[in-house]
Amino acid sequence: MKKILITGGAGFIGSHVVRRFVNNYPQYEIINLDALTYAGNLANLTDVENKNNYRFVKADITNAAEINNLFKSENFDAVIHLAAESHVDRSIADPSAFVMTNVIGTVNLLNAAKEYWKGDYANKRFYHVSTDEVYGALGETGMFTESTSYDPHSPYSASKASSDHFVRAYHDTYGLDIVISNCSNNYGSHHFPEKLIPLAINNIKNNRPVPVYGKGENVRDWLWVEDHARAIDVIFHNAKTGQTYNIGGHNEWKNIDLIHLLCTIMDQKLGRAEGESAKLITFVTDRAGHDLRYAIDSTKLQNELDWVPSLQFEEGLAKTVDWYLQNEDWLNNVTSGNYQAYYDNQYKGR
Ligand code: NAD
Ligand code: DAU
Repeated sequence: MKKILITGGAGFIGSHVVRRFVNNYPQYEIINLDALTYAGNLANLTDVENKNNYRFVKADITNAAEINNLFKSENFDAVIHLAAESHVDRSIADPSAFVMTNVIGTVNLLNAAKEYWKGDYANKRFYHVSTDEVYGALGETGMFTESTSYDPHSPYSASKASSDHFVRAYHDTYGLDIVISNCSNNYGSHHFPEKLIPLAINNIKNNRPVPVYGKGENVRDWLWVEDHARAIDVIFHNAKTGQTYNIGGHNEWKNIDLIHLLCTIMDQKLGRAEGESAKLITFVTDRAGHDLRYAIDSTKLQNELDWVPSLQFEEGLAKTVDWYLQNEDWLNNVTSGNYQAYYDNQYKGR
């Protein structure tokens, strides 16, 4: 049986990756390592938590001793590394945690893999999940390809760029089997309501202002989170060592257009008069250093590994709204902070 360590599996994307691997690969043992920071929530995984091939380990990747002990006792065959501080606004407010988790935490995992795999990388793999933000910002035209130079602007993207460089350095220097993917903005269920789409859904639902930074002219390329999880699956199993793949939705939206689409969907779902939710749109001070536009060219992934996005954005956004409206408890527990109190209590002293 193959033993796979997935880090950050209690978060948004990580929970979708864990679910996919647990359900699709009963022959694998999936160990979900997560520190359960504010962004980690085991309620994201209630449907798989009792499966035989799934286990949760509460651990912090910034703690090298803890990570080394785990590698020593578990003898993993592969790592799929998603644990990170992920929110750009938080990185602007306080970059330190981003350096600790995204850079030092990644190096701790790389060191443990190097140490315990002892140079025998034949059937081992370290998969690093990264972001398109490492490439910086685009103007009105062009797309990021795998050969676009790194040019990160925010403390978040600088920390992710640094971690990508370390992962590549461990391949080039020590021969570690690595793959990296750089993905555009994800959306879907279990997305923490500090990010644009779930925050806007929650605010519209509760008749609160929907903050749009600057003039809402910034463009993001949105991808259904389950399509990202499927891309990670395909790359993990098929990529040659040392390769990088860009993953994106070919789905660019100006923030203001996206919010108007969301308001229209919410009016329909909540039985409101047309245009009612849009009255909540409020333009606020822009994000410092706000990247104008991201757009991913995923031709390499499409041509080499036969992956294409599966969902149209309008359909995916409507499904996302349905999920949040049908999972009020999840949303209320997260926005009230109750989910943290519950896990703090459950893992007291650990
Ligand atoms: P998230 O914030 O929802 O989840 C991050 C998870 O990592 C949480 O469960 C958290 O508890 C855990 N974590 C944080 N610090 C940790 C630590 N020190 N030790 C152990 N666990 C820790 O993030 P997400 O949006 O699901 O992103 C997952 C990964 O995908 C990140 O590496 C991110 O950079 C990358 N990514 C995200 C997007 C996106 O649109 N959200 C796009 C491209 C790439
Ligand atoms: O591109 C991939 C990245 O996408 C990931 O690496 C990050 O982890 C993920 O958080 C996301 O980063 P963004 O900064 O693009 O996502 P966010 O949802 O925070 O913002 C999306 C856009 O909406 C961005 O242009 C900022 C804007 N925005 C955001 C918030 C939270 C607003 O206008 N208002 C808001 O309240």
